Amino acid sequence: MDVGQITAIVTGGCSGLGHATAVALRDAGARVALFDLDAASGEQRVNELGAEHTRFYNVDVRDEAQVRSAIDDVKSKFGDLHVCINCAGIAPAKRTLDKEGAAAPLEDFQRTVDINLIGTFNVARLAAQAMSQQATLNDDGERGLIINTASVAGYEGQIGQTAYAASKGGIISLTLPMARDLCSLGIRVNTIAPGVMGTPLLLAMPEKVQDALSSNVPFPKRLGYPKEFAGLVKHMITNSYLNGETIRLDGGLRMPPK
Ligand SMILES: NC(=O)c1ccc[n+]([C@@H]2O[C@H](COP(=O)([O-])OP(=O)(O)OC[C@H]3O[C@@H](n4cnc5c(N)ncnc54)[C@H](O)[C@@H]3O)[C@@H](O)[C@H]2O)c1
Repeated sequence: MDVGQITAIVTGGCSGLGHATAVALRDAGARVALFDLDAASGEQRVNELGAEHTRFYNVDVRDEAQVRSAIDDVKSKFGDLHVCINCAGIAPAKRTLDKEGAAAPLEDFQRTVDINLIGTFNVARLAAQAMSQQATLNDDGERGLIINTASVAGYEGQIGQTAYAASKGGIISLTLPMARDLCSLGIRVNTIAPGVMGTPLLLAMPEKVQDALSSNVPFPKRLGYPKEFAGLVKHMITNSYLNGETIRLDGGLRMPPK
């Protein structure tokens, strides 16, 4: 797919990796729809990216009706939907038993899995449905592409990351079967598993913490740049042979227990 010709949904597109992706896609000429809970920065992002080719939708990725209606609106504004990039997510930490021996609240675990895993599946399935109803784009018969965001925690979760790791491991595990489900329709599915990236989430942490996180990265010894994530998204869009795969983007990092 030619990045300049596509319409893309970016969930979590108001911040961090989603925002960097929206910027890179817009710079390449794509039309972009931001699905995010952060209404306060939504309009600002639209102005920054160019109101003619950008829309903001105040959408909770867990909500079927909101996502359906936003996708319908994207199609009515921009025509076919080619790419769906799922970046919305949260990363809370809680040990299975706390220092006093009390069990972690079940609702915290449920909320993380709901947003990260079920929210990703919800948006992906509805985007795939919209893509399945449109004409093919090229000789390969491509109709669309879904890109999910997991985490290296989906492979080696740290202390306190049971919920986060389970939610991201679920995303890694669903990548291949979803690609298999959708292959006859010409829709590819890939996932990116980032390591430690310099998004507002991490850059708000004390410098000492950031340095400690960077020091575990073999090379380059730093946080990843959000634009490096966006660069991989663009590669996934242009490389039609990449399908059913999760790619780590982590400078060779393998997370230690803590
Ligand atoms: N930053 C990292 O180091 C890192 C590493 C690995 C994986 N990730 C993953 O990358 C993704 C983006 O992370 P980030 O660092 O850019 O975070 P971020 O907090 O900067 O951005 C996340 C965005 O998702 C939105 N969001 C949260 N819940 C939502 C919901 N229910 N519906 C719609 N939007 C919602 C937020 O409003 C926010 O704009 C997350 O899935 C995260 O788990 C990040």
